[in-house]
Amino acid sequence: MTAKIIDGKEIAQQIRSELATEIQNLKTRGIVPGLGVILVGEDPASRSYVTAKEKACHEIGIYSNDNRLPATTTQAELLALIAAMNADPKINGILVQLPLPKHLNESEVLLAINPDKDVDGFHPLNVGRMVVGEKAFLPCTPHGVLQMMARSGVKIEGAHAVIVGRSNIVGKPLANLLMAKGKMANATVTVCHTRTKDIGHYTRQADIVIAAAGRPNTVTADMIKDGAVVIDVGVNRIEDSSKKAGFRLVGDVDFEACKQKASLITPVPGGVGPMTITMLLYNTVESAKRANGV
Ligand code: GUN
Repeated sequence: MTAKIIDGKEIAQQIRSELATEIQNLKTRGIVPGLGVILVGEDPASRSYVTAKEKACHEIGIYSNDNRLPATTTQAELLALIAAMNADPKINGILVQLPLPKHLNESEVLLAINPDKDVDGFHPLNVGRMVVGEKAFLPCTPHGVLQMMARSGVKIEGAHAVIVGRSNIVGKPLANLLMAKGKMANATVTVCHTRTKDIGHYTRQADIVIAAAGRPNTVTADMIKDGAVVIDVGVNRIEDSSKKAGFRLVGDVDFEACKQKASLITPVPGGVGPMTITMLLYNTVESAKRANGV
């Protein structure tokens, strides 16, 4: 079997054009959704994510308040900027790009964000709401993965989903969302991680394999069953002198080999990446609507 490729760029574009229409309607009522973006330091991958987020905001009509701070920024300076954004009615969503430099206290920073502006869904209150099935901002990458599966006709209900990776940003929330009661959910979920003895033993039983380990070739063709749905959340930079940037991006999945066996598969780049940013735009529009009673 040769897999159909899930085009994340195309699905992201569909959702973004739905959002652009919604933003135009909000603007006729004097409402302009706003996102505050904070990047501390010079990490190249973080800089490129943040640039892509800012560009996406401008393209669909979201006001973006961009703050690039030096790596020497103190905890007090960062908390003061978050407090100002919490109080600013033009800002409906606050995004602090992670990871932060080592000297900063990440959990204190996430706690300082007003949960009503937490469009990343990282504040413990929103994490808790998500886990118990209450209305919450859903974290963008897991939400993007669910949307791309739903819009590609993947049947999640009753499926066995195996997630490789247990990060707070992807693996843990995705496991919760997939096992929840409701639409785009009701799966049986297994989570594998670096201490799992034989990851292939689990992934070979999976109807849906989601790789979010942050390591190339974590999922190889011998680790999936025929017809599996394979979602690759990994973004890894591999040195490549033939490229202008000096590197190329690969996921966590051996794409070429798994494509011969899977029924549906996401590429890297052009798979989950564009969906993450799209769900951030979605949450920012949702937040603007809630703040204005729409
Ligand atoms: N770092 C990697 N992914 C993300 C994300 O979705 N949001 C933030 N704030 N930081 C990240």
